[in-house]
Amino acid sequence: GEQGVKIAVVGTGYVGLVVGACFAENGNDVICVDTNVDKVKALKRGKIPIYEPGLEEVVKRNTAEKRLSFTTELAAAVKASDIVFIAVGTPEAEDGSADLKHVLGVARDIARAMDGYKVIVDKSTVPVGTSEKVREVMRKETRHPFSVVSNPEFLKQGAAVDDFLKPDRVVIGADDERGAALMTELYAPFTRTGAPVMVMDCASAELCKYAANAMLATRISFMNEVARVCELYGANVDQVRRAVASDNRIGPSFLFPGVGYGGSCFPKDVKAILKFSRDKGYDFRILDAVEDVNAQQKKKLLQMMKQRLRSLKGKTIGVWGLAFKPRTDDMREAPAITIIEGLLKAGATVQAYDPEAHETARRIFGNRITYARNAYEALKGADALALVTEWNEFREPDFARMKKRMNTPIIFDGRNIYKPEAIAAQGFTYYSIGR
Ligand code: UDX
Repeated sequence: GEQGVKIAVVGTGYVGLVVGACFAENGNDVICVDTNVDKVKALKRGKIPIYEPGLEEVVKRNTAEKRLSFTTELAAAVKASDIVFIAVGTPEAEDGSADLKHVLGVARDIARAMDGYKVIVDKSTVPVGTSEKVREVMRKETRHPFSVVSNPEFLKQGAAVDDFLKPDRVVIGADDERGAALMTELYAPFTRTGAPVMVMDCASAELCKYAANAMLATRISFMNEVARVCELYGANVDQVRRAVASDNRIGPSFLFPGVGYGGSCFPKDVKAILKFSRDKGYDFRILDAVEDVNAQQKKKLLQMMKQRLRSLKGKTIGVWGLAFKPRTDDMREAPAITIIEGLLKAGATVQAYDPEAHETARRIFGNRITYARNAYEALKGADALALVTEWNEFREPDFARMKKRMNTPIIFDGRNIYKPEAIAAQGFTYYSIGR
């Protein structure tokens, strides 16, 4: 609202930190809460634990201007706020469902701390039915009135601050008028930038994040299968994609074939929707196939290398890109993991380069691979290059320099970033996906 709403955000992970910092940026008073003492200490000094373009500036500016603060004291933060966001993690339980222990634990603590009416907002991506569980848990702990609201977050890593400040839409799930009204007021500045604020029931709001992500994952797996058929008939998936994308009803995004989708959202959300559909006795068959195709696709580049290089034993492979996508250091479910583990298992030596993800990769591979200081160093003595993540700096490399470094000039491009004719002219043997 105009005067600034008093907000607490519980959980300073990826979503919590972006949400807290951006609401402060819009002029609200925000207290971010986390149980991790070291993390809170670092955040107070403006040190953010993740790589996300633009986020550090927003955090620093709003901390300096005293609209944003960090604490480990949940109870005090709740008392000082009108709206409390729950943005804690929902790790995957053994059965593939989202584990709600953190969400419900925080809900309980919030209820115990309440001293009057509050709006409690589920910001974590939670399965359908969670707001009902939050409500139940809280009712047992407090006599004060409250509204539970579901407000899914659609931000993309690498563009999170922008996505938050300029969303395509804002979804608010509320089962009572009071909660809906306060949330609509909080998001009023966003309507002025043209984003629709959609108010609906909690269950619908909870479902739409899953439906959106599952749809995008479906488009990717679909195009990965189209690429396979292209290969079988000598067609070019680039041409097919362009023609398909120009249909207004389809549109151009998320139609790029590649090494399969990764990240913290798509794999988890597809699994979750399968699980909560099955819980009610419904088999979401398309998503079974989407998952299956993606698992195969993550092995695709590896299979191509095995086939074209005959044996990988004793070969040196330069790998460009480790993060699951550009502009992040995140490697959760990254295709690079499947590819590199496969290379190592087959007896190859891996020389990797990623502009941001070396530290993350070290926690996964340790010294089993080497980490090059730049893209060209990763090609020293290499029998082939495997391009896994389409960072901008890989788009127009110095091909002569690459060739000089390599033992044999062979490129396996998992993201189709080069033009086959142009690269052949540079003297490379070139393999890509579906063309
Ligand atoms: C996604 C959603 O886009 C976002 O709305 C949601 O809130 C969280 O999940 P994110 O996981 O950060 O965001 O990345 P995104 O850019 O969507 O990419 C997901 C994966 O799909 C990446 O591995 C990417 O490489 C892959 N992808 C994407 C393709 O393989 N082909 C495409 O055409 C697009």
